[in-house]
Amino acid sequence: MRIYEIINKKKRGHELTAEEISFVIKGLGSIPDYQTSALLMAIFFQGMNAAETTALTMAMVDSGERVDLSSIEGITVDKHSTGGVGDKTTLIVIPIVAALGLPVAKMSGRGLGHTGGTVDKLESIPGFQTAIGGDEFLNIVKKHGLCVVGQSANLAPADKKLYALRDVTATVDSVPLIAASIMSKKIAAGAECILLDVKTGSGAFMKDLEGARELAKAMVDIGVGCGRKTAALITDMSAPLGRAVGNSLELKEVIQVLSNNESPKDLYEVCTALAANIVFLAGQGTIEECNKKVHDAITSGSALKKLADMVEAQGGDRTYIEDPSRFPLAPFIVEVTSPQKGYISEMDTEGIGLAGMDLGAGRETAEDKIDFSAGIILHAKTGDYVEKGQPLATLHTSRSASVETATKKFLNSLTFAEAPPPQRPMIYGNVGFGL
Ligand code: URA
Repeated sequence: MRIYEIINKKKRGHELTAEEISFVIKGLGSIPDYQTSALLMAIFFQGMNAAETTALTMAMVDSGERVDLSSIEGITVDKHSTGGVGDKTTLIVIPIVAALGLPVAKMSGRGLGHTGGTVDKLESIPGFQTAIGGDEFLNIVKKHGLCVVGQSANLAPADKKLYALRDVTATVDSVPLIAASIMSKKIAAGAECILLDVKTGSGAFMKDLEGARELAKAMVDIGVGCGRKTAALITDMSAPLGRAVGNSLELKEVIQVLSNNESPKDLYEVCTALAANIVFLAGQGTIEECNKKVHDAITSGSALKKLADMVEAQGGDRTYIEDPSRFPLAPFIVEVTSPQKGYISEMDTEGIGLAGMDLGAGRETAEDKIDFSAGIILHAKTGDYVEKGQPLATLHTSRSASVETATKKFLNSLTFAEAPPPQRPMIYGNVGFGL
């Protein structure tokens, strides 16, 4: 087999065989980067069908270890969100489903750029450990029903190599490549049921609904092709989710939702829908019954207790969950007021994420340190009417010198109008339930 012929075949729009795809993935590192890059560009323009995308996923899964969850009793479940600003859904959804008897052995990423990572949010709790190895990881899941650790480097290592090349060759935004990248890590992580939360809007990878549906379908096809129960919800990311952006600020909002205490409506709606659909996918009743179970897990306090149990099992201080006022506040807390009256008609979610980064809430390179207390609390969102001088947001930071730039970036992210904008749904639809 010759890589030249494989590139040429894809360039002309032909289907690659599973053997050809496996040859490329096994050869990463020995095949020159310029040839792999040429193939990635050919895939970007010619696409891949479901069989090719599944073969690519499986070749990447086979490049590393698989997590064996067979010793865990019950139906193991996992979720993946394609990410966004203020996206703290994992930390709300997994304690709910764990409280309902569905074990979650979760590997999560760190944040890079304008989006935050679940692992960073959890590390804002003193003592919390995310570098937990094989047996201990499984033991915590067996005992408490959930555990969240950092993504293991041994899971689908080929994806890491391929992603590094995609990142510098402008081939990240290809549906088959994104789908195979995400699903290789999900399949290797071992859960029986996988619910995908595919975001659409100004803060998402997929800015438009059509692209989000295409990505959702590609990922669901891979999951089903690999023998996992897989489905997706398409949810809105045209504004930050909830009101908090930034690590400990978001964790406090998670606790607010799980305490059923003035939850932001959008965040509550998305999280309860995700949780109910996981429970449904795992065959625990009709969707109405699953919705009720999810609601009960919140109102009874059992989901919040699960989160505290997990925090303690992973070395963290559970009193931060029981009393979130313990999280330290940033030294500089500055209010941003509205420069005009009117309706907020649009929010550039990515711009708000970038303002949060200026304040210290995110990292530009993988080595950057995060300021856990930094971030933004939004007081008004898309569709709200504000008067001139009314508070729009509160900025939290240790970097007083960044306040001016972050304020400008934040205000530039907002569009005002005289009339209210059309209402956007939080959930656009689903893929894979056959509904
Ligand atoms: N997340 C991933 O893990 N891979 C991609 O290609 C895009 C987002």
